[in-house]
Amino acid sequence: MVEIEIANYGEWRHAARSLLQRGVPPESVTWRAPNDAQPLLFASEEPISEPLKAAIMIPRAFFKLAENVSRHSDWKRWSVLYRVAWRLTHGELNLLAIDIDEDVATLLSMERAVHKDIYRMRAFVRFRKVSGEDGDRFVAWYEPAHHTLDANAQFFIERFGSMRWAILTPDSSLIWDLEKLETGPGVSRSQAPQEDELEDLWRLYYGAIFNPARLKLKAMRAQLPVGRWNNLPEVRAIPELIRLSRGRVQQMADAQPRSASDFIPAGTSLSQLREAVKGCAACPLCSRASGPVFGEGDPDARVVLSGEQPGNEEDRAGRPFVGPAGQVLDAAIRQAGLERSALYLTNAVKAFKFEERGKRRIHQTPRSSDIAICSPWLFAELEQVNPELIVCLGASAAQAVLGRKIKISEERGRTLVRGKARVIVTYHPSAILRAPDEAEQTRLLAALVEDLRGASMSLAAVSKSAS
Ligand code: URA
Repeated sequence: MVEIEIANYGEWRHAARSLLQRGVPPESVTWRAPNDAQPLLFASEEPISEPLKAAIMIPRAFFKLAENVSRHSDWKRWSVLYRVAWRLTHGELNLLAIDIDEDVATLLSMERAVHKDIYRMRAFVRFRKVSGEDGDRFVAWYEPAHHTLDANAQFFIERFGSMRWAILTPDSSLIWDLEKLETGPGVSRSQAPQEDELEDLWRLYYGAIFNPARLKLKAMRAQLPVGRWNNLPEVRAIPELIRLSRGRVQQMADAQPRSASDFIPAGTSLSQLREAVKGCAACPLCSRASGPVFGEGDPDARVVLSGEQPGNEEDRAGRPFVGPAGQVLDAAIRQAGLERSALYLTNAVKAFKFEERGKRRIHQTPRSSDIAICSPWLFAELEQVNPELIVCLGASAAQAVLGRKIKISEERGRTLVRGKARVIVTYHPSAILRAPDEAEQTRLLAALVEDLRGASMSLAAVSKSAS
């Protein structure tokens, strides 16, 4: 039996690589937290005497998953991660694709919990003003369910970069001084600043955004365990707000819905947009899913393909069109003589909208309001990529791009326009997957390939006439 001391993901990764190279099986390894009373067993690498093997090949997707899972609070994460790393390198290279496998399912569920915790922190951290000789600071005390503080550092810098702030958690703290970020030790609740006038501001703010028509105490409890509500000054305003809610429902019905444009910085590049979208709170979809899935591909692509919204797999991977519909699309792109790497692929709605049925997350079609709220992100991408041709895959993408509802079967084959770009609409690859029989599947796939081939030929023609 080998006992390994680790304090963080970096140490686990280093140790795991070395154990794999020495052929130490998972059942022979115990992972434990650092204990000052005993020396680091792993530091000397003495206890393991097996010879080193050649390089270990592990799919890159595993490391992304492992980094996310390493933030989970359950200690067993390290042993499950090592077991999966072992299996990946011992004849089960495609293990990660089998999400019903118990180990993989455990890791995916831990990863989901971590993502939820990251987004929950963004919504529930509350700063209190602390005035000092050198000016004001804003300090928040928060207790995340997992080790997610560092994962939110960039988010808070972008949101509150012009303030001096500190976020204290029982594990560790982050301190931003307008120029650099420092990490510090954990802080117990009693050491954090207490009530002050900022509390009243928060209550006011909450009163202004409080939506009595949607008040769902059950959902609030699910989002934030009641035990942690005492971190939220605005919760104390709820009884009064409920009392006043009748008149406000009508007022709110007249109010404008929020739009993603409130969160889009002007004149930003694609990579800045990709960062900014993570902070979008125009609708609740991103915080229910793992987060937004932004477009990807050639930033100078002549053709942009837009789908509807990420699916289950895309939500997990954080990339568009990597699941079953993505595979159909890839095949169609190849058959049409195009290359995925030369295109820019994105979606009308950036988050996976789903309903939960048992353990499964079932796709839900976005409503017109979801499309309207989210489409400024698509428009911002289109402005940056500036394509000659936009291919709308399915009706939701067409609705976002053209600003009206259409039927694909009626408008397919026409060349439409949006600004300087031509627009075509075609079938969504999921329609092919859902086709009732093989004949229909073949017909729809042929139509998609034909439309993409048309796109490819029209581009070739333009290049020729330009040269
Ligand atoms: N369906 C879509 O519309 N987009 C994706 O990214 C995946 C599936």
